[in-house]
Amino acid sequence: MDWSKEPELSFDPAVHQKELFVAWRRFVETGKIEGDIVPSYIAESWKRSKERNIDPFHFSPSAYLDPEIYEKKKTEHQYLISISKPFMENIYRSLEQSRYLVVLYNPEGYHLLRIGQRADFERSGQFTIREGLCFEEEKVGTCGFSLVKWLRKPIQIIGCEHYSALLHYVVGSYAPINDPVRGNLLGVIGITGARTIPNSHTLGIAIAASTAIENYIKLDHAGKILSIYGMALQTTMDSLADGIILIDGGGRIYEINASAKEIFGLTNMEVKGRHISDVPRIADLESSIMNVLRYQDREGQEIDIQIHNQIYLTKVQFARGEKDDVQGVIVQLKNLKSLSQIVHHMTGGHTRFTIDTMIGSSRKSLEIKALARLAAQSDASIIVEGESGTGKEVLAQAIHNASPRAKEPFVVINCSAIPSELMESILFGHEKGAFTGATHTHIGKFEVADRGTVFLDEIAEMPTNMQAKLLRVLEENRIERVGGKKSINLNIRVIAATNKDLEREIKENRFREDLFYRLNVFRIKIPPLRERKQEIYELVPVFVQQISSLLNKRVEKISEGYYDALMSYNWPGNIRELKNAIQYSIATLEDSILLERHLPNIFTHVSQQGKKEEMLWLKNSSFPSKLSDLEKVAIQNSLILAKGNKLKAAKLLGISRATLHRKLRGLNMSHNETTF
Ligand SMILES: Nc1ncnc2c1ncn2[C@@H]1O[C@H](COP(=O)(O)OP(=O)(O)OP(=O)(O)O)[C@@H](O)[C@H]1O
Ligand SMILES: [Mg+2]
Repeated sequence: MDWSKEPELSFDPAVHQKELFVAWRRFVETGKIEGDIVPSYIAESWKRSKERNIDPFHFSPSAYLDPEIYEKKKTEHQYLISISKPFMENIYRSLEQSRYLVVLYNPEGYHLLRIGQRADFERSGQFTIREGLCFEEEKVGTCGFSLVKWLRKPIQIIGCEHYSALLHYVVGSYAPINDPVRGNLLGVIGITGARTIPNSHTLGIAIAASTAIENYIKLDHAGKILSIYGMALQTTMDSLADGIILIDGGGRIYEINASAKEIFGLTNMEVKGRHISDVPRIADLESSIMNVLRYQDREGQEIDIQIHNQIYLTKVQFARGEKDDVQGVIVQLKNLKSLSQIVHHMTGGHTRFTIDTMIGSSRKSLEIKALARLAAQSDASIIVEGESGTGKEVLAQAIHNASPRAKEPFVVINCSAIPSELMESILFGHEKGAFTGATHTHIGKFEVADRGTVFLDEIAEMPTNMQAKLLRVLEENRIERVGGKKSINLNIRVIAATNKDLEREIKENRFREDLFYRLNVFRIKIPPLRERKQEIYELVPVFVQQISSLLNKRVEKISEGYYDALMSYNWPGNIRELKNAIQYSIATLEDSILLERHLPNIFTHVSQQGKKEEMLWLKNSSFPSKLSDLEKVAIQNSLILAKGNKLKAAKLLGISRATLHRKLRGLNMSHNETTF
């Protein structure tokens, strides 16, 4: 299109100008506007100009900026000037023949840049239009710039529509340049000429130029942000433990973080920009990634992949653009095992005891420690037997810590505490969707324990069908998750513990003999405390020290009587019971000497009774075999301990006073029988 050609008009511009001039003159003289020749937005601006007493024949000296300040202003707007300049030059070239000036204004109405012919500048100069003149309405009255600023839209202005007579020779088209991010006015672009009629194209050109400038600024801004984001993104991505790969719609790697590179063993390779099918190991993921890309309506995929014997939960999701269009995919690799191991570590999977910190120097205990040291060096299974509270778990921890696996997980599985229907899934994990409620892939305790130790506590309580599965796992050194198809190799050492007599359990078909032989490489029996009572002298000071500092109490002395009471008891609850008794004494201690009376009632009574045996039936040579006799003995004992106080006795028995009364009657026990 030839923009320099003047359009055909349906009215006579000379007549129009004349009528406008008449209207302007009348307004300047009388303040009145008649007819509809003056557009309303011009009329309003005229009125504002008049109210401000703007001289319509001269520009006031205050309308010019000091040249130095003006130059400074220009440098402040260097960014806008440099962006606008090429666009303005383009416009100027296309309009050169018709002698227009292309002008850029800053938001305060000063010219920042003017492109045009010298003759045209000179003519402007004759009308006292020079650099530094401010085109705000309050300085020069109605003009192209002031209207754009007021109306915030592109406008055209013709000759006598200007308020100042000095601008009556000008026709111009003006468009605002708005900040594409914040929306404020950045400047105005104007195309002006000495004409009686406007070139109808110039308004379109001004608008196109301002839009182009705005778009450029927007892109430039986005580009800057993008490069900042790019840097921030890379740093953030590299700090993640998860592997992240961004792949564009064509299957090329757009971004990859340090973890992903490490997972795939690509640390020293530049893979950005390469197609996934060309990159070793990532190529294995190609079909899943391409599937996700192909069926864009899908939610994305979650798959497990195995790399270097580690399982990664791989999530393939869409990367969507601003308009929700799919731009590519994000692949996220989570190392499931390390995740579970971290959780395990943070939730108390650490172990405290070592063979050296285990208390006990009786011959039996020293033998156990020696055996433990030996067993620790191998990967062989171990069975630890002992009554409740003898320190089976303590020993298992100590063995783990003495073994080369010390830095790896020690995972406790209490077989009596897990419902049998959940046991397989808890031990070996399950796949997402393996059963109702399996909404996520779950890592089992065995997998968490990989490279470490599994402590199977109360192994005798494991259901026999699970015993069979466990046996297979131990034999093959691998597991399959419930609902899973592939097997996962594991490297674990098992320590099993029980307070039951396993031989008897086998005889009564509650424990599988084959599993027993599989576990029974080392067998360590911890004797009950009553068989190594001399260790009480070693245990008590340590426990007193630990517990008193825990309870913030000061214990200066442990009395002989206190020890005597402890030594005369037979400790059915073993070391745990001893620890509890000490805790009780320290909690009830008023000063700093531990005396016999600080022990729970049961001890004081025992020693008060002249160190007779603590239980009535032990005194009698025969053990009562009838249940009712046992009950009778229990009631008698409790009444002794409670010194005849029935309420206390009932409490000791764990029944109500009314029940105690009923039983006393039912068992035909007179009050006399209870006091002896
Ligand atoms: N040799 C030891 N040195 C120091 N403390 C010990 C020792 N043996 C046991 N204990 C303490 O006794 C308590 C019971 O130990 P542990 O839990 O190992 O017993 P357990 O045989 O596993 O009992 P249960 O069969 O009831 O599970 C623990 O609090 C531990 O601190
Ligand atoms: Mg235990």
